[in-house]
Amino acid sequence: MMSVLQVYGMRVVCFTICIVIVFKCALYLIKPTSPQDSGSNRMIIVITPTYKRITRLADITRLANTLSQVENLHWIVIEDGESTIPNVQNILERSELLYTYVAHRTASGYPARGWYQRDMALKLIRTNPSQILGEHEGEAVIYFADDDNSYDLRLFEDYIRNVKKLGLWAVGLAGGAAVEAPNVVNKKVTSFNFKWKSKRRFAVDMAGFAINLDYILNSSAVFGTECKRGDGAPETCLLEDLGFDLNDIEPFGYEKEKNNEILVWHTKTSYSGMKVKEAEKFGYFVEP
Ligand SMILES: *[C@@H]1O[C@H](CO)[C@@H](O)[C@H](O)[C@H]1NC(C)=O
Repeated sequence: MMSVLQVYGMRVVCFTICIVIVFKCALYLIKPTSPQDSGSNRMIIVITPTYKRITRLADITRLANTLSQVENLHWIVIEDGESTIPNVQNILERSELLYTYVAHRTASGYPARGWYQRDMALKLIRTNPSQILGEHEGEAVIYFADDDNSYDLRLFEDYIRNVKKLGLWAVGLAGGAAVEAPNVVNKKVTSFNFKWKSKRRFAVDMAGFAINLDYILNSSAVFGTECKRGDGAPETCLLEDLGFDLNDIEPFGYEKEKNNEILVWHTKTSYSGMKVKEAEKFGYFVEP
């Protein structure tokens, strides 16, 4: 038999649950819905290649914290390895983001990590866009976000979400410079400011552009195994092979004479290369 106190306790619990449900329903109903196909409704598809290393879980945790604050986003994470890693999967699961996490070990012939994984993500999107878009029926924009960069949240809402064709902006700490940025004259990109690999037609870091999904779906362009036109840097080859010219670029964040803000930095977490002995893990999960 239940005591009076137990019955009372159960009533309190049930009542609390009801209140929470009613509150959540109310929140859902009053949430403003954005009109279909307006810029604000575009889904952002983020492609992140990743691989086992001592700093990876720190980097992925930080990126998950950033991306989980962005609405209407699908995060495609490609593991460079034979299989996905449960600890990474757990971070993705807890982020409550829409995500796809698959493993593709770099095939032979690719010059560096990330190239093959980004191509595999493009293939995934092209072969089954509905798997990525889900119930989303509007436009989408693709952004390549490395797992160790630093991202201002405004990058997603103010820049990426508004890309109709090819959006491009400054990147901090890229190419051996404090900032790599486009030169903009009358709202058009005429050239680039950089220190490194000057031959590139699109002298832009991987973090410095986003592409409307339609242009990806209408093309079979990939990064591939080399980019001679980029002098080793892959970005310009993809953009050129997609058929883009400087005229197609929609530049963001350049408007002021000075003190324009940088919204993304090509950072790198150090400690990579450090070897950890089993006895130095003290019972904790440490990669690699
Ligand atoms: C993609 O191809 C379709 C069908 O040919 C065309 O209607 C559409 O305008 C193209 N989109 C872009 C962005 O090129």
